[in-house]
Amino acid sequence: MSTQADSTLSNVDLAAEITAVPHHLGIIMDGNGRWAQARGMPRLAGHRAGVDNIRRILEHCVQRGVKVLTIYAFSTENWQRPPDEVSGLMRLLGLTIQRQLNDLDRNGVRILHSGRMEGINKHLQKQIVNALEVTKHNDRIILNVAFNYGGRAEILDAVRHIIQDGTAPELLTEEMLSSYLYTGGLPDPDLIVRTGGEWRLSNFLIWQAAYAEYYTTPTYWPDFDEVELDKAFVEFSRRERRFGRVLNK
Ligand code: IPE
Ligand code: IPE
Ligand code: MG
Repeated sequence: MSTQADSTLSNVDLAAEITAVPHHLGIIMDGNGRWAQARGMPRLAGHRAGVDNIRRILEHCVQRGVKVLTIYAFSTENWQRPPDEVSGLMRLLGLTIQRQLNDLDRNGVRILHSGRMEGINKHLQKQIVNALEVTKHNDRIILNVAFNYGGRAEILDAVRHIIQDGTAPELLTEEMLSSYLYTGGLPDPDLIVRTGGEWRLSNFLIWQAAYAEYYTTPTYWPDFDEVELDKAFVEFSRRERRFGRVLNK
């Protein structure tokens, strides 16, 4: 996907080729561990570098006109990692909220959470709820953090609620099911970017991304900068989204 010529392109050159920007961008922030290992550092150092990278990408999304950014930060499957890494990731989210909430709020960022609260420790749950409350009137960009998130768990939770609400089967629609997901109220993602080189969704937004464009790059998340994001937007601009139709030329 990226060529030798691409890597020498400046941001300005790329900008001219960006004719479409996703309204809702989803990012699978992968490769933190390998980034750290390549430097002889512990995996958690990679996660810290990964968290630092969120701000510059968020800011660039604002500059380019993205309205919703969903970042995959911790999956329901990530609990199976070594206990030290799991507790390190939990601590990191708490610390990040503590250190960055005011700044994010001042910058007009509305924070949302997609994922199960159950399983997250009570103190961190309170911090998350507080972050949503503090930023709820902001509208510059939505930063939706997929944390303790799994697409299958999300659909299961939605179906459970629908049954609990006594919905008649024949009245259930796709729109209604969408509204019961953690992302209820948000538009579907237009583009899913995965860093770290894998070509899979790993249980990310599996319902919502049914018609999203997909882009993957070998670049590890901590190295994924503004130019890398612009390359994804250039690629997105070239895609023809048909949604199953035949387009008249
Ligand atoms: C992604 O980076 C971040 C999380 C899953 C929390 P990884 O930790 O998966 O990094 P790699 O894929 O092992 O390099
Ligand atoms: C996906 O990355 C989850 C997050 C980025 C939070 P993983 O590293 O967990 O995915 P797999 O294991 O390669 O599928
Ligand atoms: Mg990974």
